[in-house]
Amino acid sequence: MEKTQQAVRPIYYADGSCYMLDQRLLPVEERWHAYRDYREIAEAIKTMVVRGAPAIGVAAAYGAAFAAAELAQQAPADFEERFAASCTELGATRPTAVNLFWALERMQRCAARMDSKATPAQIATRLLEEAQSIAREDEAINRALGAHGQRLLPQRATVLTHCNAGALATAGYGTALGVIRAAVAAGKKIDVIADETRPFLQGARLTAWELQHDHIPVTLICDNMAGYMLQQGRIDAIIVGADRVAANGDTANKIGTYPLAVLAQAHKVPFYIAAPVSTIDYTIPDGTHIPIEERDSAEVTTCGGQRIAPEGIQVYNPSFDVTPAHLISAIITEHGVVGGDYLQELAPFKEG
Ligand code: MRU
Repeated sequence: MEKTQQAVRPIYYADGSCYMLDQRLLPVEERWHAYRDYREIAEAIKTMVVRGAPAIGVAAAYGAAFAAAELAQQAPADFEERFAASCTELGATRPTAVNLFWALERMQRCAARMDSKATPAQIATRLLEEAQSIAREDEAINRALGAHGQRLLPQRATVLTHCNAGALATAGYGTALGVIRAAVAAGKKIDVIADETRPFLQGARLTAWELQHDHIPVTLICDNMAGYMLQQGRIDAIIVGADRVAANGDTANKIGTYPLAVLAQAHKVPFYIAAPVSTIDYTIPDGTHIPIEERDSAEVTTCGGQRIAPEGIQVYNPSFDVTPAHLISAIITEHGVVGGDYLQELAPFKEG
């Protein structure tokens, strides 16, 4: 039996609602929310009920579909204007993960491609189908990506990952953890080392939870322990996800990814990015153009609701960093694994 089939689906549509597993509460509580209003979905993205680049894209697509449904009785000109404004609102939630903008553009293109005689109600119906397609495709893409990526791993390997690029960060199966799931399904013996990922603890709370849930061996470490393990030769590969890949392969991912890439190079350990093509931003030539989100200082000054730093302390809390392409051994996509000259190698994947 494939051990990976029961991977959680953190976001799905049913009976007129978009259901999301509240990722702020894991692993202590598994609480689901049902959303019917695009404004609530925008808030859920902003406050990280849902997080991870592909999952944010899926949430935004459902948000756009709900906004369209709300406007279904409007005159066509009003519908167009107010639908665009709702998409702008959804896009203003988080700046770094490009899947958010990719999904909103796809939804807007879908509306624009409808017959000129289509009513707002017909457009809204079509947009809900499109959002459901985005969610379905995302899981299929992750499975394809996983199948390509798992070939990079030997029969036995200890793999370090950072943040959560798993089923929880997507519509299902995961990107970096998708590669690990595919390797396990192929009969390989994979041990995962999960960085805790301060300050939001996606590694400790989410990666540890979902791998334990799927019976994939996982050991949790604090972020500052990775160097020691690499020095001891206890890590065979590092695989992480991505929030935005520039045309030249420079990659934004969760803060703390760049130092891991530097460590990987120092210890001659392969460093892989696993990301769907929807995470590649072909409009920017390199990583210097990627907007980096800064989040609330309370994420740094508190832990589990407990204050851990003095009142009034100055805080800097960038949520992502950029790993230069030359530190990346390969980028794993649904179309295959590429390496070397990323500008050239990623170009053919660009969607029409
Ligand atoms: O702030 P988050 O939790 O949304 O950040 C998520 C990450 O950085 C993930 O590694 C990335 O989105 C890849 S998810 C498949």
